[in-house]
Amino acid sequence: MERKVVLGVTGGIAAYKAVEICRRLVDAGVHVVPVLTEDATRFVGEVTFSALASEPVQRSLWGGDDPIPHTRLGQGADLVVVAPATARFIGTYAAGISDGLLTATVLATRAPVVVCPAMHTEMWEHPAVQENLATLRRRGVRVVEPAAGRLAGGDVGAGRLAEPAEIVATVLRLLGPGDLAGRRVVVSAGGTREPIDPVRVITNRSSGKQGHALAEAAAARQAEVVLVTTTDRPVPPGIRVVRVDTAAEMETAMTAEAARADVVVMAAAVADFRPKAAARSKLAKADGVPEIVLEPTPDILSGLGRTRRPGQVLVGFAAETDEVLDRAAAKLARKGVDLMVANDVSAAGVGFDHDTNAVTILGADGSRLEVPLTSKAAVADAVFDTVIARLPPHPVDDDKPRSNS
Ligand code: PMT
Repeated sequence: MERKVVLGVTGGIAAYKAVEICRRLVDAGVHVVPVLTEDATRFVGEVTFSALASEPVQRSLWGGDDPIPHTRLGQGADLVVVAPATARFIGTYAAGISDGLLTATVLATRAPVVVCPAMHTEMWEHPAVQENLATLRRRGVRVVEPAAGRLAGGDVGAGRLAEPAEIVATVLRLLGPGDLAGRRVVVSAGGTREPIDPVRVITNRSSGKQGHALAEAAAARQAEVVLVTTTDRPVPPGIRVVRVDTAAEMETAMTAEAARADVVVMAAAVADFRPKAAARSKLAKADGVPEIVLEPTPDILSGLGRTRRPGQVLVGFAAETDEVLDRAAAKLARKGVDLMVANDVSAAGVGFDHDTNAVTILGADGSRLEVPLTSKAAVADAVFDTVIARLPPHPVDDDKPRSNS
């Protein structure tokens, strides 16, 4: 599952360092939900956090769409980290007082809570603060000790927020490995483009959104991800991208990358036919309507099905408009895959270029999972939940020979 962290930011000068913490957590594939106190917004802008986390900043118990945001945040979090944590936040939390969204959230969660204090030396050393921290530690809260160094106003002493790298390392250690950690995942995305001449192509309506969502979901679960894509959509750091255009280029890339992969997902819409020979120069209208002779493209997925390694899980997508499940089931058997994701692209909001999708995940073992209309990210998560149940306990061994079965 994707790992979700609530990042609480309270009102101290070190709030600017929380931006770096947010970025590092996102880079590590963590879904970050920023929660800022009113005082925090005096030091840092919420747009910075929402842009980095691709998630709206939460600020208040009141006025949003969700009538009980603190319980949704607290119950949905795998971990809550508060950085910087002011003396006021620490005191309120230790006293069990819910005076705003962040304190309500830490009281409403059963997930691990990490508190990263930052304040002036005198405040840090005050017995009230230290006793409040001792109370929190006794209750199982992890405290990332502040460092000594330069403080606001030019003073030097203990109380400076720990380095973002140390805070992020603590969070990642407590979260534990993702369920695809140590696995290699290869995903294809987008529609191939088959040249007719130097300016014209045969292509389809695939935007690459579903394939990119799959790659991002696998990275969030800590897989090593390669994305073979025909699009120039932005890709988060940590995912290796191979850009291709034609079915032939995609076949070369997928065959090479799949040879080392634990999981291969063909979400790309590969052209089934291409011009037998692309014209060297632009076909002129004046020469009349051209006769274009087509030939079949290589069936990449069938090839991957024939040459895959033992233990590798192979997933195809079937974009259909009629007899969707029957045709998808036939492709599942014909192409030798473990899972075929049936996509009824004639339904509203489903398939090509939409931000949403609805699928049925068919298994070679006869299993069937319906995923009703939802985001492409949620479809990607459902696919990987199904994949993980089929993975052998250990990653595919690089040195093992390929199987033709
Ligand atoms: O990119 P989006 O706009 O987000 O849209 C997503 C999607 C609709 C493209 C995606 O969800 C999807 O359904 N992808 C598969 C599209 C497709 O080509 O389906 P198909 O039924 O024609 O092919 C079946 C499978 O064989 C696919 O996994 C395809 O990648 C593969 N194939 C097809 C032809 C070919 N020559 N080689 C292949 O490997």
